[in-house]
Amino acid sequence: MKKKKIFLVAGARPNFMKIAALWKELKKFPSQFATYIIHTGQHYDYEMSHIFFKNLGLPRPHFHLGVGSASHSRQTAKIMVRFEKVVCQQTPDIVVVVGDVNSTLACSIVATKLKVPLAHVEAGLRSFDRQMPEEINRVVSDALSDYLFTTCEDANQNLRREGIPREKVFFVGNVMIDTLLSLKREAQRRNTWKSFGLKKKRYALLTLHRPENVDKKEVLTNILDGLEEVGNHIPIIFPIHPRAAKQVKKFRLGKYFGSKSNSGIFRIKPLGYMDFLNLMCNSKFVLTDSGGIQEETTVLNIPCLTLRKNTERPVTVKQGTNIVVGADPRRIVREATRIINGKGKKGRIPRFWEGKAAQRIVKVLLNT
Ligand code: UD1
Repeated sequence: MKKKKIFLVAGARPNFMKIAALWKELKKFPSQFATYIIHTGQHYDYEMSHIFFKNLGLPRPHFHLGVGSASHSRQTAKIMVRFEKVVCQQTPDIVVVVGDVNSTLACSIVATKLKVPLAHVEAGLRSFDRQMPEEINRVVSDALSDYLFTTCEDANQNLRREGIPREKVFFVGNVMIDTLLSLKREAQRRNTWKSFGLKKKRYALLTLHRPENVDKKEVLTNILDGLEEVGNHIPIIFPIHPRAAKQVKKFRLGKYFGSKSNSGIFRIKPLGYMDFLNLMCNSKFVLTDSGGIQEETTVLNIPCLTLRKNTERPVTVKQGTNIVVGADPRRIVREATRIINGKGKKGRIPRFWEGKAAQRIVKVLLNT
């Protein structure tokens, strides 16, 4: 029997842990699958990309499209042109895209136009906010996909409402959690928190990078005002995303950051997967505007304050440890104070977030 040629597409930081779980599982079937990793190059810094491949035990990408940063249209178009060339040369049997970044959108369109079956992992999530570039990416990828692998029941419902045929939707769980659970113990053996001079469960961890939070001076200043106040009670460690770092410099907001990790907001460079997981596991709580971190904190049972107006992952609020607090400094301080006073939200782990999502996906692919 001819092996099925599978393309796993990744482009940006939150994609790498998702393809890692799939890569590991697909490799268990060497006579059925020939798997190739395609890196679009959307993220290219060592800390945003290469270190993840190292930490996650992924091989060098088989194809690297090297697109880099640009406006949304230029970046998407560049990925499409380069990906089309590889697909035409290599003729994969199936293209697998993950998440909701521009690389997901671009490669979904290319695969569909070339009539290559498309699988979308993490389908059906909706913030119902088209101001978010990722929402547009999700809606388009889902509309085009032949296989829609979902992480939660609300995603199934969203797809049903959009008229996606039931037989295309597979409720499999969360591949990002597969990776988290498989590497958690190893990450905890590191002494990342100690190396930054932090005390276990006596610091908060912050990530902030979304355009709506960092691209406007007034919004970013408001958030930093709230965080500064929180930082008077518990140190906040902040591995800073390149976009946020650029904006802090542009708006001259460096005064908000201290040079020591024992109080205030302490900026460090972006971390690899294992060090970040270590910091997350040992933190008192997490403040974030990321998507995936809302899910990871729910699984780790660590309170999470989401610095956004809405979330495409409501299951983390309904069942998990997440609270959506927006960018209002008073709300940020109020909720953080509750956690510091020992009243952090407790939660339970959503169905199928137990480390077997990739197994379920590969089972579907074996039977297609
Ligand atoms: C992208 C995703 C977002 C995801 C985030 C995780 C889209 C639309 N957005 O946002 O969903 O949450 O990744 O990080 O796909 N830069 C670097 N080095 C890099 C990458 C980026 O310096 O390796 C800088 C560049 O100045 C670039 C900016 O960061 O212009 C933004 O990068 P981009 O890939 O456009 O979007 P992210 O904000 O990273």
